[in-house]
Amino acid sequence: MKTLETSRLWLRPLELGDARQTQILFPQWEIVRFLTNSVPWPYPPDGALTYYRNVALPAMSRGDAWHWTLRLKANPDQLIGSIALMRSADENRGFWLGIPWQGQGLMSEACETVTDFWFNVLGFPALRVPKATLNLASRRISEKQGMRVIAKMERSYVSGRFPAELWEITAEEWNRRKDAPGTRAETL
Ligand SMILES: CC(C)(COP(=O)(O)OP(=O)(O)OC[C@H]1O[C@@H](n2cnc3c(N)ncnc32)[C@H](O)[C@@H]1OP(=O)(O)O)[C@@H](O)C(=O)NCCC(=O)NCCS
Repeated sequence: MKTLETSRLWLRPLELGDARQTQILFPQWEIVRFLTNSVPWPYPPDGALTYYRNVALPAMSRGDAWHWTLRLKANPDQLIGSIALMRSADENRGFWLGIPWQGQGLMSEACETVTDFWFNVLGFPALRVPKATLNLASRRISEKQGMRVIAKMERSYVSGRFPAELWEITAEEWNRRKDAPGTRAETL
């Protein structure tokens, strides 16, 4: 895996040493409440280390997942969030951003580059992501990317069981949108 780049961000492949900064930023109710209930809560003091060492890094080694940490080009030593792609039937992308950096369009920017990687480097035919209907920021990112809701269901999140939607975009739809002038969020 290589480091990816957007106009404001470096997306650096995950390393075990990233657990220290993740452990500080990630365990916030606003971040975890609409994440799947496999995220332990209350978050244990070794939660990030355990997840990276036992789940994320082994999946990367097997070629089943691609995890990056997000860093502002202006301050690359500070981890500000994470984005991941996963080989799976219905859950192919996940992301979170530290609270101080939310609301500036940063995850929209990261999603453009990472979604393009899914289709045009890894070569998958479709990308699917389930989201809690109440998770407005996450849904808005899918909407802006030209994704469609293909199913509705209930799912269990850290904060409880809620209505959810399965969003999808195909490679053909992605590349058609990408080629259309004025529809692509700012990347490079
Ligand atoms: C989801 C998340 C990564 C978004 O990161 P971000 O960098 O703040 O998102 P962006 O700034 O790129 O903006 C996302 C869009 O949602 C909109 N948005 C943000 N908060 C919103 C809210 N509460 N209600 C409605 N829209 C909202 C933004 O205005 C923006 O849309 P716009 O470009 O049309 O203005 C961040 O909120 C987060 O970490 N949430 C917790 C983890 C999570 O839920 N992950 C996804 C699981 S499916």
